Amino acid sequence: MNAEVSELLLGPRPVWPIELIRGRNDRVWDAHGRMYYDFYGGHAVALTGHGNRHVRRAIRRQMRDLLFYSTASALAIRNRAAESLARRLPPGLGHVFFSNSGAEANENALKIALQLTGRSRLLAFQGSFHGRTLLALSVTDDPLLRDPFKHWGPPVEFLPFADPQAIETADFASAAAVILEPIQSMGGIRMADPAWYRRLIERAHEGGCLVVFDEIQTGLGRTGRWFFSGADGITPDILTLAKGLGSGIPVAATALRADLAAAVKPHDLGSTFGGGPTAMAAVLATLEVLESRDCVARAETLGGRLASGIRAHPEYEPLGRGLLIGLKTEGPCRPLGEALFKSGFLVGWSRDPRVLRLMPPLTLQARSVERLLEALNRIRPA
Ligand SMILES: Cc1ncc(COP(=O)(O)O)c(C=O)c1O
Repeated sequence: MNAEVSELLLGPRPVWPIELIRGRNDRVWDAHGRMYYDFYGGHAVALTGHGNRHVRRAIRRQMRDLLFYSTASALAIRNRAAESLARRLPPGLGHVFFSNSGAEANENALKIALQLTGRSRLLAFQGSFHGRTLLALSVTDDPLLRDPFKHWGPPVEFLPFADPQAIETADFASAAAVILEPIQSMGGIRMADPAWYRRLIERAHEGGCLVVFDEIQTGLGRTGRWFFSGADGITPDILTLAKGLGSGIPVAATALRADLAAAVKPHDLGSTFGGGPTAMAAVLATLEVLESRDCVARAETLGGRLASGIRAHPEYEPLGRGLLIGLKTEGPCRPLGEALFKSGFLVGWSRDPRVLRLMPPLTLQARSVERLLEALNRIRPA
C-alpha cells in the first residue's frame, strides 16, 4: 500500500515494515516472498496456526449452507459450539453468551456484575489491559488510552498486581466486580502464586464482589491447560474469551456461573453478529483442532523447551507459562526484538520495555522452536 492510501486508515500503525500476504501454520510470508516464523500470532489470535485445513473446511461448509443468521433463529451449529465450549470450561461456568471481540466480552461481564450487584465501583489491577470500549477501557491501566475518556467510566481502583497485602486491605464490600488477566500479558507477562488468586477470590466473595477472569489470552490451552482457572482451587464467577476462539474469525464469549446466568434477563444481552453461524463453525472447528492436535499438552511441552532455551542465557529470563512467554532482558528489549525480526521472527512488545512477548500458534512445530533458540544463540544485540 502506498503512503497516501495508508493515511486513510485510522488506529495503530503497523509494527513491522512488511506487508503480509500468506500464512501456513506457524509461518507467514510477505509480499517479497520472505518467510517469518510467527511467534506473535497476530495479537495471539492464530491459536490453531494460519489457515488450518479443518477450520477452513468447516467455515467453507457453513458459508455454503447458511453464512449468517442472527439469534432471531435457533441454530444447531450455535448449540453445538456452546455445548463444546461449555464441556471444556471450568466446572460451574458453562453458561455462555457469544459476542464479537474481547472488549465486548469484558463489557458484558462488567455490565452484568454492575447490574446484579447494584453497585457502581469496580476493582482492577495495575498493568492491566481489557479492551477499548468504555467499561473495558475504564479497567485498563494505561493512562495514554484511558485518561481522555476517564470521566465517562465508573469509579475504578487499581490495586498492585500479585501483592498479597493489597487484597487484604482493598474494599471489596462496595465493588461490583474485580477483573484481572490471570497472567498480565501487555503488562509484561506477570503472574502470581496460586495462593494469591485463591485469597483474592475468597476476599472478593466475603465482600459480595464478583470475580471476572479475563482469559482472552490465557484461555483455550495457551498456558498448558484448557484455562488458567479451574485448577488449584481457582475459579472465577465470570470468565471471558476472544482472540483465538474462532482461529481468526471474530468471536468472543462471556461465560457465567449458573446462578448468575439465571438472573440475567434475555434483553440484558444482545448482539447482531454474536453467535452467527460462520463464527460458530469456526469455534467448533477450533476446539476440535485444539483437542485432536493435543494442543494443551503441546503448549506445556514446547513452552517448557522455549523457557529452558531462554534460561540458558544468563542475560535473559523466561516469564509466564506454556506458550504465553515473556523474554526478559537485562536492558531494553527493543534491540533484541529488532534483531529477531531481521532474522525472520515476529515477536511482540509489551508495556514493560524489558519484556518481549512470544504468543505463537499452539500448533507450533518443535523445529520452529529450535530455529528461534538458534537465533537467540547467534544474536548479540548491542
Ligand atoms: C487480555 C485482553 N483482554 C481484552 C482484550 C481486548 O480484545 P479485543 O481487541 O478483541 O477487543 C485484549 C486484546 O489484546 C487482551 O489482550
